[in-house]
Amino acid sequence: MRDTIAQLPGSKIREVANAGLGRSDVLPFWFGESDEVTPLAVRQAAADALLRGETFYSHNLGLAELREALRGYVAGLHGDPGPERIAVTSSGVTALMTAMQLLVDAGDEVVVVVPVWPNLPAQPAILGGRVVRVPLAPDAQGAWQLDLDRLLAAVTPATRVLLLNAPNNPTGWTLSRAEQQAILDHCRRTGTWIVADEVYERVWFGAGRAAPSFLDIATPDDRVVAVGSFSKAFLMTGWRLGWLVLPRGQLDAVGKLIEFNSSCAPVFVQRGGLAALAMADDFVPGLVARLQAGRDALQPALAALPGVVAALPPGGMYVWFRAPGADDSLAFAKRLVAEVGLGLAPGAAFGDEGEGWLRWCFASQDTARLHLGVLRLRTALGL
Ligand SMILES: Cc1ncc(COP(=O)(O)O)c(C=O)c1O
Repeated sequence: MRDTIAQLPGSKIREVANAGLGRSDVLPFWFGESDEVTPLAVRQAAADALLRGETFYSHNLGLAELREALRGYVAGLHGDPGPERIAVTSSGVTALMTAMQLLVDAGDEVVVVVPVWPNLPAQPAILGGRVVRVPLAPDAQGAWQLDLDRLLAAVTPATRVLLLNAPNNPTGWTLSRAEQQAILDHCRRTGTWIVADEVYERVWFGAGRAAPSFLDIATPDDRVVAVGSFSKAFLMTGWRLGWLVLPRGQLDAVGKLIEFNSSCAPVFVQRGGLAALAMADDFVPGLVARLQAGRDALQPALAALPGVVAALPPGGMYVWFRAPGADDSLAFAKRLVAEVGLGLAPGAAFGDEGEGWLRWCFASQDTARLHLGVLRLRTALGL
C-alpha cells in the first residue's frame, strides 16, 4: 500500500455511527441526507428504464438527453453554459475526484477552505497533491466567516487549485457574490483553477433559487470547474449521480478519465436523473421549505441551551454548534450515542479546525424528532 493511503484518516462520523450499530433507539442525525425517500416519479422512471431493458453502457459523458437537460437546468439557474461543457458522473464525489484527476499532479499545491467535508482534502492528497488548509473562523454568534485577505494571500502562482465548498458542509457558510468575484479575479491573475463544490446550491434559504455560484460570473474559458449532484436537491443520495460543468476544451479529457474510473453512470440511474430535472421546479421549492422548517425548529432550540453556540445557517442542511463539554468532539459524540441515543457528527471529522463543534443534520421530515433529539442533548448536558 502507498504510504499516502495508509495515512489517510478514517471517517470519524462512521466511527460514531458504528458505535450505534444495531441500536434502534438511536436518533440518527449524523449523515448528510434526508429521511425522505426519492420522489416517486424519479423511482418510476428508473424502474421503467430497467423494465425496458436499459441495462447497457452509455456514453462516457452520460446520455445526450441528460447532458442537454442539465444544460437547461444550469441555464435556468446561472445562464446558458453553452454546448460541450457538461459531463455526467456517478455521484458528486466522483465528479470532484474526476476534477482532481484532471488538474492535480503529485506535488501540486491545492488550497482548501476548511472546515469541510473530509473527502475534499483527501482527494488531492490521494493523488499526491500538497494540501494547504485555510480556515474559516467563528464569530461571537457561532457563524463561521471567511477571512478573504487571508485566503487570497494563500493563493499564489504556485497554487494549482483552489477548492471551495459553499454552501459549506459542515458550517453552512456561503460565499457572497462579492467574495466570489474577488476570488475569481485573483485566480485569473495567479492562473489558479477554482473547483467549486456547489452540491448544496439549491439547499439555500436566502434570496433566489440557488446560492451564489461561480457559474454566474465565470466565462466559458475561465479555469472554473463546478460540481453538482442529484443527491441533496432531489433526495437521491443512494443513486450516485452528479455532474461537472467545465470550461471549454476539457470534455474529451474528462471523458477519458470517466472511461478509466467507471466508464459511465448506469443508464437507469440517468433516466431517474432526467425525471428529477423534469420536475425540479415543482419539487425543489417544497423540499427547501421542509428543510427550512427543520432548520428553524432546530437552531433556536439549540441556541437556547445554556452554553451552546449555534448560528442559523444560510444554506446546507446542518446546524453546526458548540456545546459545553464537547472539547473532544469524537468522545462527546460517542458518549451521546451511548448515554442518550443521539447520533451527531463530531466536529473533528471535518478537520482540527472543527474540534469542539458538532454537526446536526436537520433534514428530517418530522420536526418532533428534532425536538426529541434536543431533549436528549439537554439530558446529556445535565440541563
Ligand atoms: C460538500 C459535499 N460535497 C459533495 C458531496 C457529494 O455528494 P454525492 O457524492 O452524494 O453526490 C457531499 C455529500 O455529502 C458533500 O457534503
